[in-house]
Amino acid sequence: MLFDKEVAKVGYLSRSVPEGIDLKEAILKLKKEKNAVILAHYYVSDDIQSIADFVGDSLALAQASKKVAADIIVFCGVHFMAETAKILNPEAKVLLPDLNAGCSLADSAPEAEFLAFKNQYPDAVVVSYINCSSEIKALSDYICTSSNAVDVVNSIPKDKRIIFAPDKNLGLYVQKVTGRELILWDGACIVHVNISLDKLNALLATHPDAELIAHPECLPEILEKASFIGSTKALLEHVQSSNINKFIVATEAGILYKMKQAVPNKVIIPAPALESNTCACAECPYMKMNTLEKLYNTLYYEVPEILVNEKTQAGALKALNNMLTIK
Ligand code: 13P
Ligand code: SF4
Repeated sequence: MLFDKEVAKVGYLSRSVPEGIDLKEAILKLKKEKNAVILAHYYVSDDIQSIADFVGDSLALAQASKKVAADIIVFCGVHFMAETAKILNPEAKVLLPDLNAGCSLADSAPEAEFLAFKNQYPDAVVVSYINCSSEIKALSDYICTSSNAVDVVNSIPKDKRIIFAPDKNLGLYVQKVTGRELILWDGACIVHVNISLDKLNALLATHPDAELIAHPECLPEILEKASFIGSTKALLEHVQSSNINKFIVATEAGILYKMKQAVPNKVIIPAPALESNTCACAECPYMKMNTLEKLYNTLYYEVPEILVNEKTQAGALKALNNMLTIK
């Protein structure tokens, strides 16, 4: 096809956008003309969140992907999320602004190695975190997200052994909450494990009136200190419903955009990262590959498109539906 070689080489179509245009307005116009919807994760830039049709956590985005009736879904998130949208809504054309937007968790579980691991425990039920490739989903019995991992594990009969992959930290957290022993794959989110315990302790000492809230992809030593643990959506809801007025938030800093909108009078402080970047907080380099320019080009040229082969799609859909019927 016309742009295939170029996309295969760099992961996206690099074209300069027309000079002098208002990018946000141009994207909204294109979106309307093409009957497209923009789905975005809380971790993408404020600019993109501000024009998305729907912003949510992984579970809410999977649910939204399944029910949207658009011709095109532009997924402003990472590759596994766009793949999930394609699996749940195969009739739609699913576009991802930059194919390089991966995920360290998905990368930690290559298909052949995961299959060999799974084969060591032939009787175990496989629960995979949604942050994995479509091939791993197809090798799984259930998918879960950070919103429902505890419910999914609790739904499995007590006499069954469970493989939990690929996030070891989420697995350890689920193990603690459910009291079930899990067979854990050794993967991690590079963003959440980059939150510095020392810097966090210092920050907590400076703000004794702040409550620490954390995403379950964080290391156990961070979670131990947190008063509330939940998915991005749960963290957002917590700052809204809590009586507390100051929070230190241990997750990717993109969530602060919606938090500050939701509770403009509360103080929201991002947890500090080990290695400082522009915000000295935790930023996902993959999520930040989504830019307004790439989003415009994706909508205009309708590439890169996400495709999933039929056999993988069927297996992954089964595991995803097993999750969606639970919650
Ligand atoms: P949730 O969207 O479930 O909060 O997970 C966060 C995440 O790291 C997505 O990649
Ligand atoms: Fe993957 Fe972590 Fe980025 Fe989420 S924040 S996409 S888990 S690397």
